[in-house]
Amino acid sequence: MDIQPVLQQIPAAGAEALEAIRIQYLGQNGTLTAQMKELGKLDAETRKARGAELNVLKTELAAAISTRKEQLETEALNAKLANEAIDVTLPADPTYGGRIHPITAAMEDIAAALRSLGFTHAYGPEVETDDYNFTKLNLPEHHPARQDQDTFYLNPFNDEGSRYLLRTQTSNVQVRTLEGVKPPFRVMGIGRVYRRDYDLTHTPQFHQVEGMMVDSGTTFAHMRGVLSEFLRLYFGKPLKTRMRPHYFPFTEPSAEMDVECHMCRGAGCRVCKQTGWLEVLGCGMVHRNVLAVGGLDVSEVQGFAFGAGVERLAMLKYGISDLRLFYESHSAFLRQFGKPPVSAA
Ligand code: DAH
Repeated sequence: MDIQPVLQQIPAAGAEALEAIRIQYLGQNGTLTAQMKELGKLDAETRKARGAELNVLKTELAAAISTRKEQLETEALNAKLANEAIDVTLPADPTYGGRIHPITAAMEDIAAALRSLGFTHAYGPEVETDDYNFTKLNLPEHHPARQDQDTFYLNPFNDEGSRYLLRTQTSNVQVRTLEGVKPPFRVMGIGRVYRRDYDLTHTPQFHQVEGMMVDSGTTFAHMRGVLSEFLRLYFGKPLKTRMRPHYFPFTEPSAEMDVECHMCRGAGCRVCKQTGWLEVLGCGMVHRNVLAVGGLDVSEVQGFAFGAGVERLAMLKYGISDLRLFYESHSAFLRQFGKPPVSAA
């Protein structure tokens, strides 16, 4: 059997052709294998000589195939390495460090402004009862103003028969404070509140800041002074303020406060919808029924309270028009408005 022609083919064979050659000669039904099987039929003398001859052919052929196979594998590996080579001289993708979320930053700025005006932190739970979220704030059952705040009710009732809910306002902090702290005090409550609402300007969970000051001789003028100063500190510049009469069940008299648009200084722009004013908070003198929760009498102490939306204050400060951006975790948005964290040093 002449294997010379096939031995000449092997050095140029590709992987598939090589495998075909192996099967053709050395496979189970290959020609060389078949001839080996025939050996048994020969007489001893011839078998020995023929066997030796076939063995040489087989070894020669197997060695040529294996050499070519190794060669092909090396070529494939080299091609792959060349293909996947990393160019270490290319510029790297920028890396961004963590940032304080604009809502957290706004809450920190609000707290810092109020702290400098003598307010300390007070707390109220997010899972609250009807009593603390409404009734004790002079919003008895069936009060129409309850419907302004689409409430998430939770099923169980507490021992006094008051229903659990997710607080719709941080004003529960007022009640909790009046029950536990003796005047004079100045407190702020900053945290999450919940309402069944979802559109461009409402999310079902958002944040509010509540403030309350109670002392003897506290007047509406104190309120106006403290709130104007608070807004000046928060926006970081002196700004005109104005008050408009309003209604809140827990304050009497009540007002809403506007601040001169810090973007256009009152000239009218996109942020203030051309009015020159931005509505920023609700406030008023604490209602006698609310003071009574703390066993207090208006003839002895008076107080004022205020409440504002943190998202709104953040949107106004940074000129952001869609509330939902705060909650969608787009890193490009957060990089733009978030503050770098203060180093621990
Ligand atoms: N709780 C009110 C709200 O969620 C905001 C508010 C208004 C709070 C007047 C006050 C206040 O303390 O005096 O709309």
